[in-house]
Amino acid sequence: MALGVCYYPEHWPEQWWRDDARRMRELGISYVRIGEFAWSRIEPRRDQFEWEWLDRAMNVLGDAGLKIVLGTPTATPPKWLIDEFPDIVPTDHEGRKRGFGSRRHYSFSSHDYWRESARIVEKIAARYGEHPALVGWQTDNEYGCHDTILSYGAEDLKEFREWLRRRYQSPQQLNEAWGNVFWSMEVQEFHEVSLPNLTVTEANPAARLDFWRFQSSQVEAYNRMQCDLIRAYSPGRWITHNYMGFFNEFDHWPLGDSLDLASWDSYPIGFVERFPFSEIERNRWALTSHPDIAPFHHDLYRGVGRGRFWVMEQQPGPVNWAPWNPEPKPGMVRLWTWEALAHGAETVSYFRWRQATSAQEQMHAGLNLAGLHELSRGGEEAKRVADELKSIGTLPQSRKARVALVYDYEASWITRIQPQGADYSFVEIMFRWYEAARRLGLDIDVVPPAAPLEDYALILVPCLPHVSDAAARAFENAKGIILFGPRIGSKTRDFKISPGLPPGPLCDLLGFRVLAVSSLRPGVSAPVHGTIKGTIIKWRERVECVEEVHIVSRFEDETPAFVRKDKALTLLGLPDEALLSSLMAYAVKSAGLEPHPVPETIRLRRRGDLLFVFNYGDAPWSSPAFGQRLLGEGDVKPQDVAVWRV
Ligand code: GAL
Repeated sequence: MALGVCYYPEHWPEQWWRDDARRMRELGISYVRIGEFAWSRIEPRRDQFEWEWLDRAMNVLGDAGLKIVLGTPTATPPKWLIDEFPDIVPTDHEGRKRGFGSRRHYSFSSHDYWRESARIVEKIAARYGEHPALVGWQTDNEYGCHDTILSYGAEDLKEFREWLRRRYQSPQQLNEAWGNVFWSMEVQEFHEVSLPNLTVTEANPAARLDFWRFQSSQVEAYNRMQCDLIRAYSPGRWITHNYMGFFNEFDHWPLGDSLDLASWDSYPIGFVERFPFSEIERNRWALTSHPDIAPFHHDLYRGVGRGRFWVMEQQPGPVNWAPWNPEPKPGMVRLWTWEALAHGAETVSYFRWRQATSAQEQMHAGLNLAGLHELSRGGEEAKRVADELKSIGTLPQSRKARVALVYDYEASWITRIQPQGADYSFVEIMFRWYEAARRLGLDIDVVPPAAPLEDYALILVPCLPHVSDAAARAFENAKGIILFGPRIGSKTRDFKISPGLPPGPLCDLLGFRVLAVSSLRPGVSAPVHGTIKGTIIKWRERVECVEEVHIVSRFEDETPAFVRKDKALTLLGLPDEALLSSLMAYAVKSAGLEPHPVPETIRLRRRGDLLFVFNYGDAPWSSPAFGQRLLGEGDVKPQDVAVWRV
């Protein structure tokens, strides 16, 4: 349990470094992440390496007692490299080459970039791999940020065709898998395959899904290449990558396999603008963020990191990149830090030590005021957490939760490629189900499809159109209650309608066949009555059930809306807020779990024998006495935290 900070020695006069390092230690910071954008300073011209400044920076930080996390600088290839190999840059969906002048200007399929990345990573790993202050590595920075996964250039196409050749062996099998006979899309050779952009109307969804899988596997391979090089030179150090919020452009589960731990960049207020909230909700959470935004990602990335995660970048004040960037309410930086720790974070590292005075992010706060040696409000709050951590001591290990949320990146691609209703949003569905369970005071583990489910009392599967054989087996073996959302098992791996109709491989387990689906425009809805009540919005299914199915709730025309067969519960549409909370309460009760309902501004989270209470609201919350109070007050004040030993 520690605090860290992101630091850019190359942005500040060298005479400041020692004082910065000393003040970091004084504040209570143990880790410092450096280097991830410093390529132009490390190698200003090809093969002209200038290591000395970085040697000195590492030594100054290390001498102060800081532990260093070193980033590989591949998110920012320098100008000379792009001039030498202009084809490195990615191509957007409209077929335009993207330009130099910010960052992430490379395609994962560029052979030149692959070779150049390996070269710089190897040099850095060889030089610093065994530096005494170095404890870990971060590969690159935020893969995919600024829409850089799906690149549509000549090299992407070449690599895509090779990937397809390996996957399908023959053009005939590819034609069959994609259903290319439709609209005469058949190819006779792999080199006839084209990119799924710029088509007159929509491209074949099967082709788009495979293109997404292909690009995702390119990211995974690229990351693995970096990890292999680092491990060869840097024994005993861990490797992470800093993932993002509400970001599903590549499959994080397999990428996580080559890392030792996950980390993510937590900008809770910035993310309010990214989620499809109503304007009322957006205003409501504008200065605190919504109480599930950061936790949802902590739980996701704890899963991706197989139990181990960091917050690599914690919002310390206003950011610069959202449409509006308010200062968080006083107390929020402290609250977010404690919340990350409550969800199992090993370290919370703030972005950044000092606000920059120039370039793109000069309006982004740091722990210190712009260009100064003076703590900002966020800096003061970080200091307070550091002091509190000292008084509380080591936090216990997180325990496995009783509730699992199945999270599938392909599900996000499938529903984006074929939403079928304009407002069908994977992100929204996943988040809302998570929120509904958290409103009942429950802790949640986020797991990949096909993860072992035997230990969970309740398994939530809000959106999983393609159910692999392994996932189907995991559901069969589950002992708890499984709550499925609509579109379950509706597609095969090749983006076809499941044989025998959805839910395809789960027909027996769930006990129905879907005869028709309707997407519902805003304003069109279907009330549900029975044991669970509320309204279906956006998506509705009409099913035919086998006899053993219990119809728990019905639509007004008496057709099934919510059905149960043994442990499998299925909602046949998307719920409004009332229906979702009624549904979740029913599922939690069926699972034999004890709910602790909380107001919309309050959240609970357990870490070992500690129970944390977070207040995002404007009024104090009188917390029940959960045990012995270690931090905070019984009446938890707005933007405050209480910690109990239970
Ligand atoms: C992150 C990124 C950082 C910085 C930060 C600003 O997405 O990793 O380099 O740009 O956002 O909030």
